[in-house]
Amino acid sequence: MDDVTIPFPMPRACPFNPPPQYAQLRAETPVRWAELTGGATAWLVTHYEGVRRVLTDPCFSADITHPGFPSTTPELLPALRGNRSFVRMDPPEHSRYRRALIPEFTVRRIEAMRPGIQSVVDAFIDDLLAGVPPVDLVETLAVPVPSMVICQLLGVPYTDHDFFQSSTRTLVSASSSPEQAMSAMRDLHGYLDELIGRKLREPADDLLGRLIARHLEPDGELTRQDLLMTCRLLLTAGHETTANMITLGTVALLENPDQLALLRADPGLLPGAVEELLRYLSIVDYFPARVAVEDVEIEGTRIRSGDGVFALLAAANWDPAMFDAPDRLDLRRGNRRHLAFGNGVHQCLGQNLARLELEIVFRTLFERIPRLRLAVPAERLPYKDDTPVYGMTELPVTW
Ligand code: HEM
Repeated sequence: MDDVTIPFPMPRACPFNPPPQYAQLRAETPVRWAELTGGATAWLVTHYEGVRRVLTDPCFSADITHPGFPSTTPELLPALRGNRSFVRMDPPEHSRYRRALIPEFTVRRIEAMRPGIQSVVDAFIDDLLAGVPPVDLVETLAVPVPSMVICQLLGVPYTDHDFFQSSTRTLVSASSSPEQAMSAMRDLHGYLDELIGRKLREPADDLLGRLIARHLEPDGELTRQDLLMTCRLLLTAGHETTANMITLGTVALLENPDQLALLRADPGLLPGAVEELLRYLSIVDYFPARVAVEDVEIEGTRIRSGDGVFALLAAANWDPAMFDAPDRLDLRRGNRRHLAFGNGVHQCLGQNLARLELEIVFRTLFERIPRLRLAVPAERLPYKDDTPVYGMTELPVTW
């Protein structure tokens, strides 16, 4: 495989498996030069230890303004550079935001949200059960639950969900034209700026209100633009990812009835089951892009300062050197060292929230609808792999 140019990204051949080329790359050339859609080039890292190294070694920068930062949508780079959120910054700039937000996402703070999240899940399942099957689980449960939860946390009116869900989808989808993506970004910014204006006039005790009260200039360290970018990141990252995990996780459990039976027999397996689903599905794959800021060697391959690098999380999470039989969904695996939430300073800020939402949704869904099943054969389900966040557009279920 070494002497041919590999195009990147690569599609998934089976809905749950990472692209089949990842296994071959990892075995033969775990650090490999590839040609990106849009014409640029970058290294692909497919080996668990290599991926972890890229995410933790300060020789690799997450700052999108560095020349050489890799992108599969280069036409959007100028707009993304001008509207950067902290996931695309390095310390110490990045640390300012993390410091301001960490108190909002501690295990204790998130655990306190459990009754509220349970009520949200129950209410959407009531509505779902009131419908006539088959129903689409994406529209009735998977997207609404994390959207409502992140809205309640941030203080964004849930009544505006159609608007921000569709802007987010346009923004992250590689099928959108650059004009569509820019226009979605502008609309989202306009909306959030108005919301910030409203919270400035009428102070609120929600995450956005607290950020304004404690961290906005002139007394705080964040500008209004910083706040807007942060709010966009939390709103988009907070619903799109978890929604895809809910749909794909449901399909994975229904398609592995032996595993679902284990979970039904012993609900204590649930926290480990969520970890295993996160590993197995690895819905965020090539989002962690980096650029080398020094010459560095990984797995014997020299990466030069200025080269772009993709740390492929789906490849790391299926590395047989770290996970026995990685292609098997094994809810009793016990090895929780997956990188589905990344690693290092950018490790997912919302991971405790995502875990709690997934735990509550899977438990409640399979308890309240014990006869839940797919309404169409799994091969006919529509998967979306045109974004760095893998998922499904529709999931017809019946009971
Ligand atoms: C960062 C995955 C849910 C907020 C990340 C990163 C990954 C990830 C892989 C690291 C990106 C990088 O290194 O470049 C996921 C998955 C989720 C999920 C798989 C669901 C199952 C959430 C939720 C929130 C959230 C619910 C809610 C607020 C963030 C933020 C960052 C981030 C703010 C940037 C952190 C930083 O740069 O310091 N996520 N995420 N995520 N995630 Fe999540």
